[in-house]
Amino acid sequence: FWLVVGIRKREPGEPPLENGLIPYVGCALQYGANPLEFLRSREKKHGHIFTCKIAGNFIHFVTDPFSFSSVLRSGRHYDWQKFHYATSAKVFGHSNVDPSESSATEDMHEKFMRAMQGEALEPLVTTMMETLQHTMLQHYTAKATSKDWISEGLYGFCYRLMFESSYLSLFGKELNSKQDPSNARQEAENALILNAIENFKEFDKIFPALVAGIPIHIFKNAHSAREKLAKDLLHDKLKKRDNISEIVSLRMFLNDCITHLNDNDKSKIQLALLWASLANTLPATFWTVFHLLRCPKALKAASDEVHRTLEKASQKPSLDGKLITLSLQHLDDMPVLDSIIKESMRLSSASLNIRVTKENFTLQLDKNDCYKIRKDDIVAFYPQMVHLDPDVYEDPLTFKYDRYIDENLKEKTDFQLNGRKLKYYYLPFGTGKTKCPGRHLAVYEIKEFVSLLIAYFDIELVDKNGKIPPLDQSRAGLGILQPTHDADFKYKLKAQ
Ligand code: HEM
Repeated sequence: FWLVVGIRKREPGEPPLENGLIPYVGCALQYGANPLEFLRSREKKHGHIFTCKIAGNFIHFVTDPFSFSSVLRSGRHYDWQKFHYATSAKVFGHSNVDPSESSATEDMHEKFMRAMQGEALEPLVTTMMETLQHTMLQHYTAKATSKDWISEGLYGFCYRLMFESSYLSLFGKELNSKQDPSNARQEAENALILNAIENFKEFDKIFPALVAGIPIHIFKNAHSAREKLAKDLLHDKLKKRDNISEIVSLRMFLNDCITHLNDNDKSKIQLALLWASLANTLPATFWTVFHLLRCPKALKAASDEVHRTLEKASQKPSLDGKLITLSLQHLDDMPVLDSIIKESMRLSSASLNIRVTKENFTLQLDKNDCYKIRKDDIVAFYPQMVHLDPDVYEDPLTFKYDRYIDENLKEKTDFQLNGRKLKYYYLPFGTGKTKCPGRHLAVYEIKEFVSLLIAYFDIELVDKNGKIPPLDQSRAGLGILQPTHDADFKYKLKAQ
């Protein structure tokens, strides 16, 4: 009977179990309504590990951050990528490229992940700085009718400029646009980007539903938006573009090596890369600039740092076509911006870290606390519980721009819980083998965006004492949460 209705009985040695009230669904509705509150209340009731049935899966939530290392150390019991490969195939609509089930190899995946953090990074960061500057100044020129302030929604502004710059930096520009800089070509490129932005928004809106397993065919507009986005990323089209990033050309090469993929599959794997590169970075950029503008001390400290860096790099903003360039070393040496970005992400990140177990085993947590875990169950942590824990971060809901630096502007890494130093106190990019390979790129991109904004413009929020837009909880579990509404800001070109 229990098996028929999908209810499990807790066996001796297993973590406390909640089957939930509804067969199959289990605790999904309560969890989905507010994961943080749900997990906090269950932690209070059951302690630092408990099992919840959610949409047919049995998920063991480990809530004690001192036990995160134990979970990561028990890596041999997990199939790290299984869930990720299957989710990507389901959401983006490509064939599965799980090495254990296809002609792809583990080595290909590793190679790609390494390239994103190694040799491919510097040229991409340099191109991004150039593209961001073109895009930002073009956007300004199109809006500016006088030397007065321009005002618009900050999220819309960050979204538009970061999207366009990332797209062009990753996937290159239309071939021959340099030899033939006619208006027609520029207009075609602008139309491609504007359409891509609209299609991306339409598709991204239903992303949580797709991850939850709802088929895309139910969402007609989002389905068509996904297909259109993928069509622009067909290898044949990409080959006609100029200055494609090494990451994208490597992905094209690896796709061509996987024998069972057709052209459509390949374009959808590129779409997965486009989504991963933007879905978190866009709201993270917004939150960074928003908090910066809302906190005068942060804006002053960041502006001082940007001007110091420009001076060190002998760079000056000008409108005569000479662009600002900053090396990776210059960008690395911006501790105030690092701290502001981290603090903004601490407040807005809500990702769920999961691993699927491939065998029955005993999970040994901190202080030798042992639990039996069954094959095919999921072990998870929800870092927001640490990010917003008042015992780890004093006043956890308040933005403190210098939370992650000491008085000498050195990175602060000493965060404690119950008198013990924590290793895992900041996890918006995930952990272990599934840690985001784009994390360095993301931080460089946001630093470039903020540096350029400060270098070229005077910037202010329209309503300096306005409320902070609430986080859109419908995306909890997926990464950096979006604001539920925009906030207006104004900007004006600095006197040159
Ligand atoms: C995976 C966060 C930016 C590429 C992930 C994961 C997280 C994450 C939490 C792991 C998901 C999991 O464990 O299931 C973020 C955040 C970003 C960001 C917070 C920005 C603020 C980027 C950028 C790129 C990127 C800029 C690339 C251009 C990827 C890829 C994966 C990934 C390819 C999948 C890795 C795999 O298959 O193992 N990201 N990411 N991310 N991210 Fe990011």
